[in-house]
Amino acid sequence: MSARDSSEIDTRDLRRAFGHFATGVTIVTTIDGNGNPVGFTANSFTSVSIDPPLLLVNIATAAHGCPVFTAARGFAINILAHRQRDLSNRFASAGSDKFAAVDWQPGPAGAPILDGVVAWFDCRAYRQVEAGDHIILIGEVQAYDYGSDAPLGFCRGAYVSFGLPPQMLQLVSSPGKLNVGAIVSDGSSVLLEQVEGGMLRLPVAEAVGDADDRFSLTGKLASAGIHVELPFIYSAFHDNGTRFVYYLGELRSVEDAEETRELHFWDLDGIPWDMIGDAAVRIMLERFVREQKLGNYAIYIGDAAKGEIFPA
Ligand SMILES: Cc1cc2nc3c(=O)[nH]c(=O)nc-3n(C[C@H](O)[C@H](O)[C@H](O)COP(=O)(O)O)c2cc1C
Repeated sequence: MSARDSSEIDTRDLRRAFGHFATGVTIVTTIDGNGNPVGFTANSFTSVSIDPPLLLVNIATAAHGCPVFTAARGFAINILAHRQRDLSNRFASAGSDKFAAVDWQPGPAGAPILDGVVAWFDCRAYRQVEAGDHIILIGEVQAYDYGSDAPLGFCRGAYVSFGLPPQMLQLVSSPGKLNVGAIVSDGSSVLLEQVEGGMLRLPVAEAVGDADDRFSLTGKLASAGIHVELPFIYSAFHDNGTRFVYYLGELRSVEDAEETRELHFWDLDGIPWDMIGDAAVRIMLERFVREQKLGNYAIYIGDAAKGEIFPA
């Protein structure tokens, strides 16, 4: 890490740094002067006080909805469930038809409560504070409810799943041979390993390990000059008694000319699909290419042919 001081703040970099705080995802709603529902996706929600019951959320002064929210008598916070990523994307884009095909009811204090959310708080406008390019909306909770569904998470610019599904723990801790692999991508290309006969696969080893252990996945990549972290499981499955756990790698650095003949980055638009012999890997990579474009990654759990995707 190297510290940046306020004289050299790059706004994109600061946004990236703020994004390391993992949050849930909410949709903030209200009713405009014409009686129409208005809403936007926000992860700046925070509880503030228990007595009186207060919460806050920040709205950008540039948001289309800002004049509506600052004039409204109240607003609701809808905390999204892990299956509601599409809803989050819909309310994060500027548009007037965000509520089309969305089921909602007015809350006890009047703001829209969306179906299927894990919790909601219908609030009276309590106070507003101007703060730079945002306005802090403080609400006093008039009514609320919550359920038991898993919430949607957001961290480092991507949706995340907070709890690993129990099937994952079962699979990872069950007996049998374990192979760990990684999808390592810089956003436009992905790292593939050439095996005998010229066929390609994702890099694999028998353990995640560390950079000093060249038999581990991290060490094997490090010895080719490719430095990665493997923070997220992307896919876990059984195949003929072997357990496979594939991680979504975060590329830290690639040393020039260190790439070995076996490990090579391939353009995501030019993956030679017929050279990837393993059907399970091919399906996983196809999913990765699709999800990479959207910036949303799900987790697959099952066996090589059949399984489930979390969050669905
Ligand atoms: C996960 C996520 C969190 C967001 N959090 C906020 C937020 O806290 N405040 C905000 O003003 N915009 C936030 N945004 C951006 C708004 O949702 C986006 O600018 C939206 O288009 C605003 O809608 P409007 O312009 O129709 O009012 C967030 C977007 C995403 C995807």
